[in-house]
Amino acid sequence: MIHKEDIDKIFEAAKVEEVVADYVTLKKRGANLIGLCPFHDEKTPSFYVSPVKGIYKCFGCGKGGHAINFVMEKEQMSYPDALRHLAKKYNIKIVEEEQSPEEQQEQRQLQDYRESLFVVSSFAQKTFTENLYNTDEGKSVGLGYFKERGFRDDIIQKFQLGYSINNRTVFTDNALANGYKFEYLVKSGLTIDFNKDEEKTSEEREATKTAKKYLDRFFARVMFPIHNISGRVIAFGGRTLLTDKKVAKYINSPESEIYHKSDVLYGIYFAKNEIIKQDNCLLVEGYTDVISMHQAGVENVVASAGTSLTVEQILLIKRYTNNITILYDGDAAGIKASMRGINLILEKGLNVKVVLFPDGEDPDSYSKKVSSSELRDFILQHTKDFILFKADFLTDETINDPIKRKEAIGDMADSIVRISDAILRSDYIKKVSVKMGVDEENILIPAITRARGDYTEIRRKELGFEETRKLLEKDILFEQKKTTVSDAEYQERDIIRILINYGNINVFIDTDEKANNIKIGRAHV
Ligand code: CTP
Ligand code: MN
Repeated sequence: MIHKEDIDKIFEAAKVEEVVADYVTLKKRGANLIGLCPFHDEKTPSFYVSPVKGIYKCFGCGKGGHAINFVMEKEQMSYPDALRHLAKKYNIKIVEEEQSPEEQQEQRQLQDYRESLFVVSSFAQKTFTENLYNTDEGKSVGLGYFKERGFRDDIIQKFQLGYSINNRTVFTDNALANGYKFEYLVKSGLTIDFNKDEEKTSEEREATKTAKKYLDRFFARVMFPIHNISGRVIAFGGRTLLTDKKVAKYINSPESEIYHKSDVLYGIYFAKNEIIKQDNCLLVEGYTDVISMHQAGVENVVASAGTSLTVEQILLIKRYTNNITILYDGDAAGIKASMRGINLILEKGLNVKVVLFPDGEDPDSYSKKVSSSELRDFILQHTKDFILFKADFLTDETINDPIKRKEAIGDMADSIVRISDAILRSDYIKKVSVKMGVDEENILIPAITRARGDYTEIRRKELGFEETRKLLEKDILFEQKKTTVSDAEYQERDIIRILINYGNINVFIDTDEKANNIKIGRAHV
C-alpha cells in the first residue's frame, strides 16, 4: 500500500512534459509541446502535451491523460506500479506498509501477468550478477572472460552483466525455493518445461527421463540482460564461452508477454538521452559492440541484436531522432545483406549514414585498439551518406559486368524512390548518376520511375486506400514543387506517370494560393 501523502507528492513532482519526454521528442508549439505519438504510427505530430494543464492528448488516436496515465499506458503498468516508477524517477521515498506473508502471497497472485514476468526477469538478472561476483565459478569463468575482453567493472555493472552457473537446474531450483512461480519462470523463457516445451533437443529429451521435469535455459554462459526503454529487464542473451562451433554462440530468451524481439533495441535505455543530445543514433550489430562503445564514451548507440532492423525498431529510434548512422564491419557480404533493410529506414523518413570499419574490425574490436577520442574522430571522418556510399559500393562491385551493373542501377533506384523529400531526391539522382557513370535522363530517372511503379503497387496492396492516399498526396505535392524547377517535357511525362500509377483513384485538388495550401482528397462522387 502506498500512502496517500506519498501519492500526492508523486502527482506534484511528476511533470507531464518530463515524463513524456523520456519517450517522445517534444518541440515547443505555443503554450504546448508537440511530438510524434508513441501510441500509434504517424509521420506528422498530432500528440500534444500541455504543461500548464498537466495533460497529454493525441488527436490521432485519441489517447490522453496525466503523467501517471502515460506511464501506465506506455509501460503497461498497474496504477501502483506507475506510482512506484515515478517515485523512483523523482527520488521520492515512499513508505509502503509491511505486508504479512499472506498479503505478500495475495499480492503476488494479484500482480498481473506482465508484472510477474518483470519480477522473475529482475530476479534472474540479480542472480546472474550475484553469480558473477560472488561465486568461485562465476568469478573465474564469467568475470575472467569479461576481464579478458577488457570490459571495465563500471561497464559490467552498468549493463548488469552476469553469469549462469554450469548446472542445468540450479537457477530454477533456486527461483522456486525463493517463491517464484514455475508458470512465470516458464513463460519468461528462463525455465524450459518438459511437459510442454516443443523445442526440446535430444539431450533435453534424455533429461526428461530423470526426476526433474524442467531445465534452465541458460547455463554456463555469460549473461547480457536486455532492458526495455525504462530500464526494466525483459529478456536475456547468453553467450557461450566455448569455441566449439556446434554450440550456439548465443542463446536468447524466447518471445514473451514482455519481450517482443522485433520491438526491442539492445541498449536503448542507456542510449536514449545521448541520442536526443547528439540528434543521431548509431546502430551496431551486437551486444558487445554496444557495451564497448559505451566504455569508449560513445553512448548514442543501440544494436538490432543479430536481425535486420524492423519497422517497430525504426519507429523506436524515430521517437528520439531522425538521423541514424549504421556502423558496419568491413565485410562486403554483410554489407550487401543489410542494404535491403535500409530501404525500410529511408521509407520511414530517416536520414541514413554509414561508417565502414577497417577490414576485420567491428566497433567492439576497433574501440579497444584506439583511444576514445580516436574512435570519435574515426566515426566523424568516416561517416558517409548511405545513398552515395551504396552507389560507390555497387559501382565497385559491378565494374566489369554490364548485366550486374544494370541490376545495380535498379537497386539504386529502389532506394532513391523511397526518399520522399523532393529536393533531396533530385540531388541524389544527379550525384548517383555521376558516380555510376550513367545518363541521368535516359537511364537513372526511367529506372526510378519503374521502381516507383513497383513500390506504389506494393504499398497499395499492403496499406489499403487511406495510406495510399497519403502516399499519393505526398507525391502530388512533390510534383507541384517540382513544376517550378522543371521543363515542360518533364511535367508532361510526369502527368502520364501519375495517370498510369493512380488513374484508378478519384482525387480532387483544392489549392488555396494565399495560404499556400494544397488539399487533396478522395473526390466526392
Ligand atoms: N546473435 C544471436 N545469436 C547468435 C549469434 C549472434 O542472437 N547465434 C546476435 C547477438 O545479439 C549478437 C549479435 O547477433 O550480439 C552479433 O553477433 P556476433 O557479432 O556474432 O556476436 P558479438 O555479440 O559481437 O560477440 P563477440 O564479440 O563475442 O563475437
Ligand atoms: Mn560482433
